[in-house]
Parts: sequence; C-alpha cells; structure tokens
Amino acid sequence: MGTITISAIKADVGGWVGHSDIHPDLLSEAKRRLSEAVESDLLIDAHADSCGDDVNLVMTHRLGVDAEAIHHFAWDSFVSMTEIAKRLHLYGAGQDLLADAFSGNVRGAGPGVAEMEIEERTSEPFIVFAADKCAPGAWNFPLYKIFCDPFNTAGLIIDPKAHGGFALEVHDLIEHRRIRFECPEDLYDLLVYIGTPSRFVIKHVFRRDMQDEPVASTSTSRLSLIAGKYVGKDDPIMVVRAQSGLPAVGEVLEPFANPHLVAGWMRGSHNGPLMPCALGDSTPARFDGPPRVVGMGFQLADGKLHGPRDLLGDVSFDRARRQALELADYMRRMGPFEPGRLPMEEMEYTTMPAVAERLDERWEPIEEPATPVPA
Ligand code: F6R
Ligand code: MG
Ligand code: MG
Repeated sequence: MGTITISAIKADVGGWVGHSDIHPDLLSEAKRRLSEAVESDLLIDAHADSCGDDVNLVMTHRLGVDAEAIHHFAWDSFVSMTEIAKRLHLYGAGQDLLADAFSGNVRGAGPGVAEMEIEERTSEPFIVFAADKCAPGAWNFPLYKIFCDPFNTAGLIIDPKAHGGFALEVHDLIEHRRIRFECPEDLYDLLVYIGTPSRFVIKHVFRRDMQDEPVASTSTSRLSLIAGKYVGKDDPIMVVRAQSGLPAVGEVLEPFANPHLVAGWMRGSHNGPLMPCALGDSTPARFDGPPRVVGMGFQLADGKLHGPRDLLGDVSFDRARRQALELADYMRRMGPFEPGRLPMEEMEYTTMPAVAERLDERWEPIEEPATPVPA
C-alpha cells in the first residue's frame, strides 16, 4: 500500500491569555481546515491539538517528507488562524510566522516540523510529544534515555530486535552541519555533543537492523537563530514510534517520569523542570511555566489516526508532576542568578543586550598589576 508520512507541524500564532493557552476559535479553525484537507484527499487523516500557546497539527499523507503541498497547507492554516488571532487581539498574533510569505517549505520560516516517512507495520503505535516554554534540545535527554540507555529501555538488553541498537543523527544548529552516531558503539562520542542541547540536537533516530527505518524525528528550529533576535519560543514537537522491536510505549514515556531541566522558561531566559502533563493541563501559568510536555498516543491503521490517548496525563506521572513543582520552587529561588537564569551567551538572543548597551559607557578599564611572565 506504499509508504505513509506522518507530519507534525506546530506554531504559536497567538496566545490566550498572554502566552498561556490558545483560544478555542483557533483550534476550531485548525480542525475545520484539517477536515477539508482530508475530504479533498490531500491528507489521509489529521488531528489538531495544543500545548500551551502552540497549535499542533498531526497529519498523515502519502506525499513524503518536505512535501510542498503539505507545508503550504500548514502555512496557510497558520495564516488563517493568525487572522482570527488578530481579530481577537490575541497575544503575539502570528508570532511564529517569520517569513512574509510561503516559499516552498515551512522549515526555517518559523513553525516547528517533525516528519517521517514509514512503511506502516501490521500495528503501528506512535507518540507525538509537544512541549511549551522550552527549546528543541529538550528532546535530547529523553531520546538518549529511550534509544541508548538500558536502565530506561529494558528492550535494549532483552529484545533481540532492539539489541542491535539505534543510529542518532545530531544537528549542530550553529555551524549548520550534521553527524550520525551509531549506538551503542558511539555512545560516549554522542554525549560529548548532546549534553549541550542549546546547540546540538538529536534530529532523527533510525533502527539499524531495519534498513535504517526512521523511528523518531524532532523539530529543531530555533527562532532566535533564524531571526537573529528574540522573537518567541521554539517549543518543539517530536514523533516517536513504539513496540515490536522498538522501545515499548512505556519505555518511550519513562524518561518523562524524571522532570529534567530545560531552557526556555520565562522570557526564554530561564531553566526549569519539564513537567509532564495532561493535554488539558498544558497551560503554563506560574512564571509563564513551568515548561510542559504532553504525549499524544496514536494507533495508525492504513494511515488513519486512532487517538490521541493522553499518555502523560496518566496517574503514573503524578509524582513527576509533584517533583517538577518542587524543582520549580527551587529554581525560582535562584531568581536572576545562573543557572536559574540562562548563561550569558544564551541571553544574547534575548532583550538583554539592549539593557546592557545602556551601560556600555559606564564601564571603565581596570589597571591590572603587571602579571609576572612564567619562566
Ligand atoms: C513566551 C514566553 C513568555 C514571554 C513573556 C514576556 O513563549 O515564554 O515568558 O517571554 O511573557 O513576553 P512579552 O515580552 O511578549 O511581554
Ligand atoms: Mg506565545
Ligand atoms: Mg509556546
């Protein structure tokens, strides 16, 4: 029956209230457009949802990744949602649409994109994760745990089909280059890079013993790096397939039981715990956060989406939520001090340089005593 492509495309086109949620009218518009696209056979199936102030479009189709028709459709959908956002004076209407017009692909134009073209298996469970108030590097830690850590994923030891390991493609967002790590052999080399999630992000994961079948894909856009200044948050999305030789659904969810620290809380300038939450609770409030992640589980059937199941809303993540709130208390007590606040280099993409500029003239050179030259 040919391949199926899963495209998860997201954008913040206006917040309700502030940056905390999306207005129901935006979601209705997304749903209306998606059902039109299914009726016209552009899409096989689709689902619209939100995480915080971001709208997530989950679409299935037969056109492959980077298909112009799909990206154009997503772009136009965000444009029509922006019009509603403008009419309602929603906050930051159209904020993620950085380009003036569509030009072939939404990548690099603001919206976040995670796509993969797959041979649908007899049963195809997959999960779309969406996060708010954090940067794309937020997926590095969970992806490492899911595909490389046998303490997280028992299948890496026990399941002969998973035992061969996975290959991870890492992108360098500053130098615009990529590298592929074959794991487990390259684990230590992989960690040299992905421990710096502000720059190095895991873009794809492949299963090595299955002709490099894609098993995970993430969005990697960093708006500030595209625009050269602070223009909002990157709030990433990712798609992960599960079961039958891949990590089980529970192994894919497991890393989120440990709310790791991510960059992106308040003004994109603070570190905070990534709190797993139910779809209905993905509405950042305290200090515009704490950062949140939702997990939408789907079963695919001939390209049709059966779901979502609200996986991170489950009671088994209640303790992680509580722990995240405790960590949030602790991090908040740091106030404007690093590492509560992001390091200086990261602040260069915020409004901080404008404040520092005013003080330029007040800085005076210090006369250093002559430093003895070592013999
Ligand atoms: C947006 C975000 C928020 C804003 C903050 C200030 O995703 O994380 O924390 O940065 O609300 O927003 P402005 O500068 O638009 O008033
Ligand atoms: Mg916003
Ligand atoms: Mg957001």
